Amino acid sequence: MTLPMVVPAQDLPARVRIHEVGARDGLQNEKSVVPTEVKAEFVHRLAAAGLTTIEATSFVHPKWVPQLADAEALFPLLGDLDGVALPVLVPNERGLDRALALGARRIAVFASATESFAKANLNRTVDESLAMFEPVVTRAKERKAHVRGYLSMCFGDPWEGAVPVHQVVRVAKALVDMGCDELSLGDTIGVATPAHVQTLLAELNEEGVPTSSIGVHFHDTYGQALSNTLAALQHGVSTVDASAGGLGGCPYAKSATGNLATEDLVWMLQGLGIDTGVDLGLLTATSVWMAGRLGRPSPSRTVRALSHQES
Ligand code: HMG
Ligand code: MG
Repeated sequence: MTLPMVVPAQDLPARVRIHEVGARDGLQNEKSVVPTEVKAEFVHRLAAAGLTTIEATSFVHPKWVPQLADAEALFPLLGDLDGVALPVLVPNERGLDRALALGARRIAVFASATESFAKANLNRTVDESLAMFEPVVTRAKERKAHVRGYLSMCFGDPWEGAVPVHQVVRVAKALVDMGCDELSLGDTIGVATPAHVQTLLAELNEEGVPTSSIGVHFHDTYGQALSNTLAALQHGVSTVDASAGGLGGCPYAKSATGNLATEDLVWMLQGLGIDTGVDLGLLTATSVWMAGRLGRPSPSRTVRALSHQES
């Protein structure tokens, strides 16, 4: 089979917007630096496969993430992608200036629910990092840019263990109050389970954060990413982050492995009769091509199953 049989489920969103993070979350974690033109081709192929939100790169300190130090060279190579949103990560005003100078229209700041990860990832406390983001969000909104607020370690932290829901909600609210248009709840180390996801979503709703403004960002370390996604869909979430071929991780979080693979997600959504606009064959071919460039097979079960069938 190359496509699942469609058996729709009750009370799930009719359409899901996939926020593709392979070119950023995926490639930031590669040991080798992928050449700029390969990254550009990757993004073009993802767009050709029907993805409409493709996170392109990060304007962070090049010494912190050398894999994405070519942001200035890459971003202009994507200028021909009409109708495709190309969000970029910016941690501070310096990053925002760099992104705006190239015409970026969507930016993402990235906060942490825990002090340990805020320090490791941003060299700041949680509150210092929120203070760093405040002028970034204000200035981006003045320029009518769309702002996503990532929140990492929402379900567990490699240094601190379990993360209380109220601790996550406090930082999430701060991002929303600051003016973020969208919140992405990150399970950076992949430890979440379905009821934990639904509890956090319900708590955010209680505090006035609508489900329509929330996306979910699962890593698949413990094989829970799809179950957690289904739990979020049942709660009404319709924005799901995923990474083509299951590339990914975070260089500043011990034990963060690959993201939820976009192909695995699309297989489930197609089977549920949920529209994504993605051509699974083209997407799989892209991940097989990228795996060839990286010199190792994709960890995605769906990529492996479909590409074995093709060979
Ligand atoms: P810092 O060392 O505290 O920087 O790092 P600083 O503010 O003290 O500045 C030091 C120097 O860096 C200055 O230069 C700045 O201009 C320069 P100098 O005056 O000394 O010559 N600088 C910059 N240069 C270029 N671009 C910039 C920039 N900022 C400062 N943007 C900083 C603080 C935030 C910069 C650093 O910690 C950093 O870049 N961190 C990024 C880490 C990162 O990208 N992590 C991965 C993304 S998060 C993630 O993957 C999780 C997610 O997927 C969700 C999930 O799974 O949970 C989103
Ligand atoms: Mg991530």
